[in-house]
Amino acid sequence: SSGNDGAAMAKATPIERITIFGGGLMGAGIAQSAAQYGFKVTLCDVSSKALDNARDIISRSIARVAKRAYPDPHSSSAPEHERKRVEDQRRVLVEGVWGRIKLTTDTEGAVRGSSGAESTDLHSEPTQLVIEAIVEDLQIKRALFQRVDEFAVDGCIFATNTSSLSVADIAEGVRESRRARFGGLHFFNRTPQMKLVEVIRTDQTSEETFQALLDVCARMKKKAVKCKDTPGFIVNRLLVPYMAEADIDIAMKLGAAMGPIELTDFVGLDTTKHILDGWREKLKAAQSSVENTETQKTANLPAALVEPSPMLEKLVKEGKLGHKTGEGFLKHRK
Ligand code: NAI
Repeated sequence: SSGNDGAAMAKATPIERITIFGGGLMGAGIAQSAAQYGFKVTLCDVSSKALDNARDIISRSIARVAKRAYPDPHSSSAPEHERKRVEDQRRVLVEGVWGRIKLTTDTEGAVRGSSGAESTDLHSEPTQLVIEAIVEDLQIKRALFQRVDEFAVDGCIFATNTSSLSVADIAEGVRESRRARFGGLHFFNRTPQMKLVEVIRTDQTSEETFQALLDVCARMKKKAVKCKDTPGFIVNRLLVPYMAEADIDIAMKLGAAMGPIELTDFVGLDTTKHILDGWREKLKAAQSSVENTETQKTANLPAALVEPSPMLEKLVKEGKLGHKTGEGFLKHRK
């Protein structure tokens, strides 16, 4: 199947067939989410034990989904046939999902598709999208993609679910011509419940590929945010330093039940600016005084976190201070 213009193909043929590598927590969740929304999914792991575990994770999760979709009849005295109807509906949903998932340890078959005796199999065609969710190790991810690159059709798109590595670095595992069809699809744990996916493009990711990845997210009923290939993308860039701070659980649960933009408008942009300016001053003072350990303690902040934010500075200058002025980052009804 050489001579195909892969990018054009990706645009012309919507993705139906997805192969996921890594049957851990993430791979299992991604497989389930895709199968729930009609994609034909192959889940591949090097370990059959991991696949058994993935089967359990998916079974438990999909049973919960089915129960929510078709709740128990209200009354405990509901007639038997009504209970049976609910059970049948749940079974159809669960079997439908399992009918679209194939588990395998065969890397080549997972990418090329099976043929011959299995040609009526849903998964007989070559895969159109590979999502990698194996261990967070650059060399191992590169090696997998290099191998998969040998078996995949030209139009196949590759995506990594890495949390912290550079997508472009991982893409170095594949041949030059594939890199236009290489991006990031960063799902969150637990994938069936989490609405967000960060879609990452490198300098080499083509527009068609990026659009195809966004389209897959939309069809999985996920909210996609577009990200550049920077460390931690959006969520983990903020979340990981936050997670690295100890003893903050109660404080943050009770003190910050909003998104950061929403919260800044609520607090007031001027107040937020004062806080940042104050901390920056303290940090500067601490850096210039070796003796004053008390100042150093209070200023124990990563410098990058208290850098002036150009957007915040601009809005404050314009008098857009949040709820109290009717507009901050967002517009508010007074
Ligand atoms: P995990 O350790 O639960 O699962 C990884 C699986 O990959 C294992 O079952 C392992 O046998 C398999 N594997 C290793 N090499 C393989 C290969 N060459 N081919 C096929 N399978 C292979 O890891 P987890 O938590 O599911 O994470 C996977 C990826 O997703 C990592 O890149 C991680 O950074 C990322 N991620 C993790 C999140 C989390 O909350 N755990 C959230 C978002 C992304």
